[in-house]
Amino acid sequence: MKSISGVGLAEVVSVYSGTQGDFMQLVFGQQLHIGGMKASIDLADRARIAADSSGVDLCCCNGAGMRFLVRSRNVASMTGVDVTEAVIERGRRFTQEEGLEDRVRFVHADACDSALPSASADFVWSEDAWCYVPDKPKLIAEAARIVRRGGVIAFTDWVEGPAGLSGAEAQRLLAMMTFANIEDVGGYVGLLSASGCDVRIAEDTGRFASHFELYLKMIEMQLTYDVLRTLAFRDELLATLVEGFRFLGEMARAGKVAQARFVARRV
Ligand SMILES: C[S@@+](CC[C@H](N)C(=O)[O-])C[C@H]1O[C@@H](n2cnc3c(N)ncnc32)[C@H](O)[C@@H]1O
Repeated sequence: MKSISGVGLAEVVSVYSGTQGDFMQLVFGQQLHIGGMKASIDLADRARIAADSSGVDLCCCNGAGMRFLVRSRNVASMTGVDVTEAVIERGRRFTQEEGLEDRVRFVHADACDSALPSASADFVWSEDAWCYVPDKPKLIAEAARIVRRGGVIAFTDWVEGPAGLSGAEAQRLLAMMTFANIEDVGGYVGLLSASGCDVRIAEDTGRFASHFELYLKMIEMQLTYDVLRTLAFRDELLATLVEGFRFLGEMARAGKVAQARFVARRV
């Protein structure tokens, strides 16, 4: 697994509490992951998320994934765990505005140490967020602890692709994204198996490259003023972010980074 030093929880919280978090929410929308609602539908279908079930979203951000599950899948209740207070506050506001506060609740905690009861959820869910968590074995073990036997862990995440990142590419990607490390598909399969899960799906969604082309078009052809506004009108910051997005697109086209989808059943 490729990793860098000097990146931890505090750095991630700072990103999601500030300018970069606002920028990402503008470009990605409330659902802050590659593929938006279509990606959530694909994950929910494959994981067979059932009506009246209860779930936990580990690293839920503003909770848009939870609101999607409650609305579109008639999930009875969702508990979201996130370490950034600013996104939880925003999430509670959005949830209240949509009248879903009885079924969607937020917990401010590290996803590796959520303090949620063991075997309490029918499923654990996450979308494009575990890449931010340095201790992935602990995180997967926590997901496996929270879900009941026979329940499902379903998530998407950014992973190193089969072509592999060079050392320099990994340093650049991890530093710009504030990831302490990046897992690959085989690594996640190993961690899930070691935590008592039967892995049913572990696959590339194939979305990464095309979606980064889309984000660049949105930034450069439509949302330029709005994006600059989130960046306090700092042109040089916009140029750096655009250059970073181009680099991510290149890495995806070369098979060096991907969005992967996992569905595993707790045995
Ligand atoms: C890309 S966002 C998640 C997006 C969300 N899943 C969605 O689809 O809208 C990443 C989130 O992970 C949270 N996060 C990162 N590390 C965490 C940790 N160790 N524990 C809890 N939350 C964490 C961040 O605060 C941020 O809100």
